[in-house]
Amino acid sequence: MSEARWDLDGFAYLDGHLFAEDVTLERLANAVGTPTYVYSAGAIRSAYERMHAAFAPLGARLHYAVKACPNLHILGLLHELGAGMDVVSGGELERAWLAGVPMDAICFAGVGKTDAEIRAALDGTFSPLAMPERGLGRGGERHLPPGLAQRGPVGLFNVESASELARIAALADTLGTRARIAVRINPDVDAHTHTYTTTGKRENKFGVTVDHVLPLFERYADHPAVDLVGLHVHIGSPVRAIEPFEAAVDVVLGLVDRLAAHGHRVSLLDLGGGWAVDYESGEAPVPSAYAERLVPRLAERVAGQGMGILIEPGRSLVANAGVLMTRVQHTKEGQATRFVVCDAGVHTLIRPALYQAFHFIWPVAVRAEHVPLQRVAAPEMPDLATSEVVGPICESSDFLAQARPLPRVARGDLLAVFSAGAYGMAMASNINDHMRPAEVLVDGGQATVIAARQRLVDHLAPERQKRALTPAELEPCNRQDG
Ligand SMILES: Cc1ncc(COP(=O)(O)O)c(C=O)c1O
Repeated sequence: MSEARWDLDGFAYLDGHLFAEDVTLERLANAVGTPTYVYSAGAIRSAYERMHAAFAPLGARLHYAVKACPNLHILGLLHELGAGMDVVSGGELERAWLAGVPMDAICFAGVGKTDAEIRAALDGTFSPLAMPERGLGRGGERHLPPGLAQRGPVGLFNVESASELARIAALADTLGTRARIAVRINPDVDAHTHTYTTTGKRENKFGVTVDHVLPLFERYADHPAVDLVGLHVHIGSPVRAIEPFEAAVDVVLGLVDRLAAHGHRVSLLDLGGGWAVDYESGEAPVPSAYAERLVPRLAERVAGQGMGILIEPGRSLVANAGVLMTRVQHTKEGQATRFVVCDAGVHTLIRPALYQAFHFIWPVAVRAEHVPLQRVAAPEMPDLATSEVVGPICESSDFLAQARPLPRVARGDLLAVFSAGAYGMAMASNINDHMRPAEVLVDGGQATVIAARQRLVDHLAPERQKRALTPAELEPCNRQDG
């Protein structure tokens, strides 16, 4: 039987059966059910090492963008490898901390930080993990999990507006602490990616206009609670061309020089994420290709000015390390096409519907002539049937692939949706009251359930907590100030 191994991505067909490292997906599906996300620990390690090695000449620190795949155990794995974390909400902040990541290895980005999130990022006693626990303590005193009281501020806030910077300064001042800050700039660079994931153009809500940065450095230069150390830029995701990164870096370096001319030293550059991956084989630059073009631009600043470099890869560390396993529930011939109806769909993986994203989809068990050698939209193979791969949701946006040539599959067959490790589970929903999938991490021959399939009882629990608000609760005007 023919064999194919996809270098470094952790998944391979052997004798016509798809393996995640040393475990067949058929066995995983029998054990855990479907739909289930399956990740390869080895593939995550390789992706991390490749990215780390590429930017090592700059001594760059990698902060994993938690939003890509926030499972606690994936965070733990990346933390073990040496990654810091990039978080964009109070929830992600707590996840990173629960995964064992020290606060000074966390940077906190995001355009709409609330006072409550900022406080938690400055002082652990404000963490939502320390909320009063019903039945604990007579006066409703706060229950602090170990270590929370000692937890210091995050290593870096990436601020997105003058308003946010003022809030962080005020809250840090009140708490008697100091916030280390980088200003995210909007470089007005087109990343040539999907409109919804383009973040560095002037019309996007992200970052501070370049001309507004100097006044911020002037204003906060001597502020007792603020240490304005850096600049941050993130232009979109995935950015398949290298030129937009070069353009963004040039804008940032120009600004560094302008600030220096006014006596403000920038000691940290955070270049964000957005590094692309091969959804289709060979479509994206490898990390070293990005680095080859960016390192020379930055090396002098690092060596000569002692500037620290941070990057925030998300997708590039986990996308190809994950597949979504789904079982065919029904097939039917439509007027113009064949439908393959699966138990996964827009609720489990929204990327095809939201971004018209391509995911290679293939049966988990195939005959020899159907063993794929690459992830491509239209493999050159005999006996393929053009298929719509759809889910059970009551919307026509519920598809995983459209007009896709596939081996003929039947009810009960398993399909693998490849490159689903990033923004897959992270964006899963309960639409139509489907439960969120399970997650499994495979490391060699060891498979571990790292998230149980969501249970209906847990999903319904908040609705069982119906209660009328008391007049006292409704009394003062409800301002959202923490
Ligand atoms: C500020 C910031 N950093 C990093 C990332 C991660 O991007 P990617 O997963 O493409 O590496 C994102 C993605 O939205 C982001 O907004």
